[in-house]
Amino acid sequence: LQPPGTGSRGRSGDLKPEEIVRLEEDRVVLLDQRRLPDEEVELECRSAAEVAEAIRAMAVRGAPAIGIAAAYGYALAAERGEDLDEAAAVLLASRPTAVNLAWAIAELRKADDPRACAREIHLQEIDRCRRMAEHAAGLVEPGARPLTHCNTGGLATGGYGTALGAIRAAFAQSLVEHVLVTETRPLLQGGRLTAWELDRVGIPSSVIADSAAGSFMGRGEVTHVFTGADRIAANGDTANKIGTYALAVLAAHHEIPFYIVAPSSTVDLATPTGAEIPIEERDPSEVTPRFPARNPAFDVTPAALIGAIVTEAGVHRAPYEESLSRPTPAGAAR
Ligand code: MRU
Repeated sequence: LQPPGTGSRGRSGDLKPEEIVRLEEDRVVLLDQRRLPDEEVELECRSAAEVAEAIRAMAVRGAPAIGIAAAYGYALAAERGEDLDEAAAVLLASRPTAVNLAWAIAELRKADDPRACAREIHLQEIDRCRRMAEHAAGLVEPGARPLTHCNTGGLATGGYGTALGAIRAAFAQSLVEHVLVTETRPLLQGGRLTAWELDRVGIPSSVIADSAAGSFMGRGEVTHVFTGADRIAANGDTANKIGTYALAVLAAHHEIPFYIVAPSSTVDLATPTGAEIPIEERDPSEVTPRFPARNPAFDVTPAALIGAIVTEAGVHRAPYEESLSRPTPAGAAR
């Protein structure tokens, strides 16, 4: 199935929110991120269990996008007359680290009109992205050459992006010269998805091997590191794609500012520190199908290595216990 209004590969321009994920009358439709950038193919899910499987298999991924997809999946389940306790349980079990999923399901459980609530979550996530991007762009000086990890663009958020949104906003203000994109082993969210998104909107970028980041920093070719987050604990410790911690250590060594950009729906004040964040271990065959392997999908960057956490509410600085707990306009930082 081709996305609406297309039929060819290699389109350019911004991804429309409904091209990334949408709820139709009897199905949730996702742009299958496993097939990008080679093919733009949609995946149809006709039950909460099918949406959960799409999340688990990473047809849709990225913390806010997982929450949005789960919200649409729950709304679909409600309209189909599925057992909603079971629907919630299967969606919650699909991926453990990104708190957006649990947050979105909790919002849906309270809603009188699940379809309208899910749509509102989607629209609000995009609005939060745009606001946090403007705050984060204020941290960038002209001539910036940021490095980013994984994919935090529209694909990961249902539209626009978090860390990649910040880079886009800074580029629109003519502050960014060039972006370094870590390929993000083992599933290549950087090399496949971020590079594709940057290419579509015309921002100059180069993909590098994850292991090349320190070398580029040492040569003075990185001015800032911007990443997203899957869960931010109350003390500011942040879970994000495996490799983020190493980038933060490298950035500290080279005195390069390291910033997290994430919505309040990723802030989990009920989790005191990073030690309590559940870290997903994925199938070792994603790393190598031949030998024994370990495959943690995320790591935790200690708050002490984070220069600022940018949400839609503004730029939060240490001590994060205080700065993150202030009420946000969205009221979502719990
Ligand atoms: O395993 P993934 O691809 O879902 O991991 C995604 C990330 O780690 C992103 O950096 C994070 O979700 C932020 S997306 C705006």
